[in-house]
Amino acid sequence: MRLVAIAAILALGGCLRSAGTQRGLAIGSAASAAYLGEAQYSEVLGREFALLTPENELKWDTIHPARDRYDFGPVDALVRYARAHSMGLRGVPLVWHAQNPAWLTEGQFTRSELVGILDGHIRTVVGRYSSVIGQWDVVNEAIDDAGEPRSTLWSRIIGPDYIELALRSARAADPDVKLFYNDYGIERSGPKADAVFRMVSDLRQRGAPIDGVGFQAHLTAQASLAELQAQIDRYRAIGLDVAVTELDVRVPVPATIASLQAQADVYRGVFKACLDATNCDTVVVWGFTDRHSWIPAFVPGYGAATLYTEDYEPKPAYHAVIGLLQT
Ligand code: XIL
Repeated sequence: MRLVAIAAILALGGCLRSAGTQRGLAIGSAASAAYLGEAQYSEVLGREFALLTPENELKWDTIHPARDRYDFGPVDALVRYARAHSMGLRGVPLVWHAQNPAWLTEGQFTRSELVGILDGHIRTVVGRYSSVIGQWDVVNEAIDDAGEPRSTLWSRIIGPDYIELALRSARAADPDVKLFYNDYGIERSGPKADAVFRMVSDLRQRGAPIDGVGFQAHLTAQASLAELQAQIDRYRAIGLDVAVTELDVRVPVPATIASLQAQADVYRGVFKACLDATNCDTVVVWGFTDRHSWIPAFVPGYGAATLYTEDYEPKPAYHAVIGLLQT
């Protein structure tokens, strides 16, 4: 009893990180090495989050800029920061169609050359960070919005088995790391969610090394939480974890009191869905301050998508989430 009471007091005084830990939830944020020098950014990140996902530093165009050269500098800066703040790390992505360097997208490779390049990249990167990265999004966004396999450099040159090959390379590089398939738009029901479920079920049935599915969760304030729950649950039924990997909830700008309240409800609902599910123990937000969010540049007319204002003031969404965790 006494311990529980002390824990509750600590959580009340505290932060998302400790409140999450009390409830068995690892709460993380994407972060960029470029902003670590900003005092408030660095302070809030280390205080509030137990997990860090490099926002761009593990993408091929940054970490593998030439065929025979890797640049580990930017991600190593984040790894040092995470270690100094006792944070875990999620890695994303090992295979994607975007943010690839020209040597890769414009190279004229045979199938076996590209298989070798992919396997070498995965073994090098996963192997190097095996002691610090606990979860990897191995393949990102392999299904398109209509629910068809996305046509990418990997699918065109290697064929559909590039996904299984990538999972097997990652497992060979680190026998203990959790391996995920990651995508957006699978938080709601529809042809895309069904196609991803079929693909992942099939991988699992064939014995491919896959531990879970990452729901990016780039949402609007209209998102259906009942549908999210149902999607998480169907993976539980086939023995797979779900991680919420890139949560943000965008609103039309300028934001209003009402839209920020609706946003808070969705944030709380997503955390609750994960908390209530036996197969979800990780929620990562895609940036934690409106000062540094990808949304305004990528979704015109929208913004204010994160838990903190541009001035690092906690928003209604922050209070809603911490309130949920502390009840
Ligand atoms: C975004 C980053 O946030 C931006 O900084 C970058 O310019 C583009 O990519 N889905 C993903 C992420 O899997 O890697 C994307 O991140 C957002 C959408």
